[in-house]
Amino acid sequence: MSSRTLETIIHPEADTATFLNLLRQQFNITRIYYPGAGTDDTLESAFAQQEITYLDKMVLDIILEGVKLRLNFEDDGFTSFFEFIRKFAKGRNYVLGDFGKSPFADGTFGAVFYKDIHATEEELAEILRTLRTGGVVIHGKDICEGEEGRKMLEAAAMLGMLREVRLPYTHPDLTVFQKA
Ligand SMILES: C[S@@+](CC[C@H](N)C(=O)[O-])C[C@H]1O[C@@H](n2cnc3c(N)ncnc32)[C@H](O)[C@@H]1O
Repeated sequence: MSSRTLETIIHPEADTATFLNLLRQQFNITRIYYPGAGTDDTLESAFAQQEITYLDKMVLDIILEGVKLRLNFEDDGFTSFFEFIRKFAKGRNYVLGDFGKSPFADGTFGAVFYKDIHATEEELAEILRTLRTGGVVIHGKDICEGEEGRKMLEAAAMLGMLREVRLPYTHPDLTVFQKA
């Protein structure tokens, strides 16, 4: 299906749901991986929950920290935060783990959402391993201090692992790279 529609010609700057939906159609994305997702549900504006695989080690950290804290204090902001994360993970494909050594087979996903995860070079390579050839990395603008996600992806493009994709529609905070 062509990604060029009257809508994208007249309004080339799409909102998030429209942008993700156009990508989904253009690249035939049925499984999308969000490493280091935390509790960010941005993808759900365009993808069904069962199409998204979330992975984060935070929940594990929170559980461990929570246990530690409860041993030491009569806390309670933490319990409610823990509950919030637990509720977010419940009902979603939410994997507790390390994106530097994920359990997914090579080429499992048609897309990766990559946003503020402070991945090292090796971790990025491991994330890209799980993406099929021709699949896309959707990069969300770096917000965290010190995060250089875009530079990492540009470097991967210089090494021939990815190429930046120019699209007939744009988003102010999202850019797209394709796995070579
Ligand atoms: C700054 S937060 C960003 C969360 C989300 N991507 C967003 O933009 O709202 C970074 C997240 O990456 C997770 N993270 C960092 N290193 C990780 C690793 N090696 N494996 C899995 N998750 C990791 C953290 O637990 C945290 O949830």
